Amino acid sequence: MVHAPLPNDQLEPKAERHLWGHFSSLGHSVDGTSIIERGEGCYVWDNHGKQYLDGLAGLYTTQVGYGRPELAKAAGDQTAQLGFFPIWTYAHPKAVELAARLADLSPGNLNRVFFTSGGSEAVESAFKLARQYFHEIGEHDRYKVISRNLAYHGTTMGALSITGLEFAKTPFEPLVPGALKVDNTLDFARAYDGDPDLLGVAAANQIEQCILDAGPETVAAVFLEPVQNAGGCFVPPDGYFARVREICDQYGVLLVSDEVICAYGRLGEMFGSQALDYQADIITTAKGLTSGHSPLGAVLVSDKVAEPFADTDHVFQHGFTFAGHPVSCAVALANLDIIEDDNLLAHVRTNASTFIDALAPLADLPIVSEVRGMGYFYGIELMKDVDNGVFFSDDEAQELIRGFLSLRLADLGLLCRADARGEPVIQLSPPLIAGPDEFDFMASVIQQALTEAMARMSTVA
Ligand SMILES: Cc1ncc(COP(=O)(O)O)c(C=O)c1O
Repeated sequence: MVHAPLPNDQLEPKAERHLWGHFSSLGHSVDGTSIIERGEGCYVWDNHGKQYLDGLAGLYTTQVGYGRPELAKAAGDQTAQLGFFPIWTYAHPKAVELAARLADLSPGNLNRVFFTSGGSEAVESAFKLARQYFHEIGEHDRYKVISRNLAYHGTTMGALSITGLEFAKTPFEPLVPGALKVDNTLDFARAYDGDPDLLGVAAANQIEQCILDAGPETVAAVFLEPVQNAGGCFVPPDGYFARVREICDQYGVLLVSDEVICAYGRLGEMFGSQALDYQADIITTAKGLTSGHSPLGAVLVSDKVAEPFADTDHVFQHGFTFAGHPVSCAVALANLDIIEDDNLLAHVRTNASTFIDALAPLADLPIVSEVRGMGYFYGIELMKDVDNGVFFSDDEAQELIRGFLSLRLADLGLLCRADARGEPVIQLSPPLIAGPDEFDFMASVIQQALTEAMARMSTVA
């Protein structure tokens, strides 16, 4: 018997009763917005037929957009041929092919690929790998990891410890010991009053100070996103990553580039570290690897880090049943084909300036303090009164974001992220196939929603 789908009018009540939405309060699993039913290109439709431009690519994920028959075919063919097999002690052809292809595409000698099911598992795996690596080479005291305030690195206990968002961590304390934090580059830049040309070096030197304070012989790794997402697209100042690399080399610390968002074209190169010109020891990826069409993460590991695991006495004691799933690997290969065949990296590089030009006039609104980002990844930061330097209080920010902007932007047909984890910010990260029409639509909807937000604020005040 074929199970009948739920009638449309049952979807919202059943969701409210049964679906536990992530980072959502119970009873509001769909957060008052939409149940998304279908996608095509840069657009999705909800269960009432309303069309939205997906300005966030799902969740920084659908690089090639929706409805690609190549991805459906790859998933279908692989399901028919071998619908599942683990990569614990076995392999399957698609995992081998994808690992070799990623090794080939990645910068430097990142020649080993450890698959996961998603981004948190990728970060968790990199954390454990860094710790076991030092254990294997006899540097047993190196267990601490450094990351930046506000940065999001995932929700499993290790990845959460690396995350710099207090609200996400507090309910789960105590977390994994030894997860140290430094300022993110935006907070550092705003407090900095030294030579502007040395800003990047000075921001990176915080990491050196943290290593020295912790005891260099105790620090295993530094976890950094190329462009930090949480807080709203913090592009690092010039010289930052060159100096971070120097510091890591000097103190024997691994540099992990968390590219769960920034890989696979988001910044106009296959990997975010290529766009910002630095070499990581480990790159963590997920999301865009399959354009989200099937769950998969990949940790790219340098020859140096893999070397101690070369013989059977030194197994990396870690794995997941679904990691490197054959259907996901087949989808990832087809997704990489599309990225290459459709020249999406060049498309992003060529169109990034048109994107920022479309968004730039938003900075003239009295509520917008900054428009920043790169590639296909932008944040529009909001302030209560830019001219007089007045920030929103936490309550005001929540009311603006949750009480008005998120819903209004969706109402106007734009899905994007309105967030208040640092200063309130609207974030855009559309599918990489987006072009000038989509940029103009995003800019005009945001312009309208912010203009209404300002009118609302003056009425409330
Ligand atoms: C930089 C970064 N790392 C890790 C993660 C966790 O990925 P996932 O949600 O797939 O577990 C995310 C998710 O957004 C992320 O942005």
